[in-house]
Amino acid sequence: MGDRDAVGVGLIGLGTIGTGVVRVLRKNAGVIAQRLGFPLRLVRIADLDTETDRGVDLSGIRFDSDSQALIDDPEVSIVIELIGGYGAARQLTMGAIERGKHVVTANKALLALHGKEIFDAAASAGVDVAFEASVGGGIPILRSLREGLSANRIEAIHGIINGTTNFVLSEMQETGEDFEVVLKRAQDLGYAEADPSFDVDGIDAAHKLTLLVAMAFGAELTFKDIPTEGIRSLLPVDFEAAEEFGYRIKLLAIAKVHGEGKSERIEARVHPTFVPATSLLAKVEGPMNAVAVHGDAVGPTLFYGAGAGELPTASAVVGDLMEVAREVRRGSAGRVAPLSYLPESLKRKPLVPLGDLEGRAYLCLSVRDEPGVLGHVASILGENGIGIESIFQRGSSRTGEAVPIIIFTHRTREARVRAALAEIDRLPDVTAPTRLVRVEEDF
Ligand code: HSE
Repeated sequence: MGDRDAVGVGLIGLGTIGTGVVRVLRKNAGVIAQRLGFPLRLVRIADLDTETDRGVDLSGIRFDSDSQALIDDPEVSIVIELIGGYGAARQLTMGAIERGKHVVTANKALLALHGKEIFDAAASAGVDVAFEASVGGGIPILRSLREGLSANRIEAIHGIINGTTNFVLSEMQETGEDFEVVLKRAQDLGYAEADPSFDVDGIDAAHKLTLLVAMAFGAELTFKDIPTEGIRSLLPVDFEAAEEFGYRIKLLAIAKVHGEGKSERIEARVHPTFVPATSLLAKVEGPMNAVAVHGDAVGPTLFYGAGAGELPTASAVVGDLMEVAREVRRGSAGRVAPLSYLPESLKRKPLVPLGDLEGRAYLCLSVRDEPGVLGHVASILGENGIGIESIFQRGSSRTGEAVPIIIFTHRTREARVRAALAEIDRLPDVTAPTRLVRVEEDF
């Protein structure tokens, strides 16, 4: 297997993941070549920072800041895009495709927002776009949906697909500390971004869910329609309640299919969720990710692993690179449609409004500790047809200060809960808007 036989690769972005890609290609060159039957050759790398020593061997690789020259280089057959964002990344990805190059990317934001344009362009150009690293880091969840589970009608997905928020929630549960304190620690440990809003506001998870929904249900990419809530408003009292009532709080990305054929609708949402402490997802701690997929033939499956980080994400990128390199060798791109469904089969599918969903809810009220408040709250819930499963008051105040009241409801439609909360929050002794966290047990 001489270098003449090698498939040429160009890497744009030598940050954490890019460095990991170089490391894996170097370290595992032997096993990669044995599995492929030919070597991969990293021809060139482009990054704006050409000075910082990344501690990897870059000998024999052209390294400069010219990403345009990289996509123009005739020796490069596959472009790895690891710069993130929608600006230069979009332009370079489209540019590479127009030049007949295959693309491997970890850019979930780009694909969630501009996936249609990119996949359509790739289909017209007859090239591959591979993106395993964009969801769940090193977990091969996209390949599993696209290939291993492709005989199934997928019924439900429950994912912990943002490592930063899972770390923050695990620490808040463990230590009883406030969100801001724990977030600072996540940043210091390098889990959260310097601007962590994509993580903590659930946007990163919604980008990833957009891709999962398309691949699981053949739905067109619908990022802007996915109801998304982050974890900023959670308080230590919520974690105390979780402990007391046998739950853990997770930022879940949930997708389910309702009905069939013409009446098919998709449920998709990202929000903090109470899950039973005994469930497998409750045991996914720290920055780890997990995705539970329920298929009609296979039943429940669970995929677990590192959702971020240098080597786990590089594992997914290089796995894609090998798959695409095989296509280059065969001269046939697109062995499997990138979103699992043939492009002409992807349909715009209506989303089920949150108000129509049924489930139990956790309510945290802030009330003045006056006689009769609880009675008013209970009767408003009753008038709206909402049963109370448990209720308790956290602490008590003799001075009329606000105290939290925790309520777990029975199963009910969310629209009813919203209507009741609108009334409850108008009561004179309710001092702040009631916070609602959904409970999810069906997985
Ligand atoms: N910020 C992301 C996370 C990185 O915390 O999961 C991996 O997509």
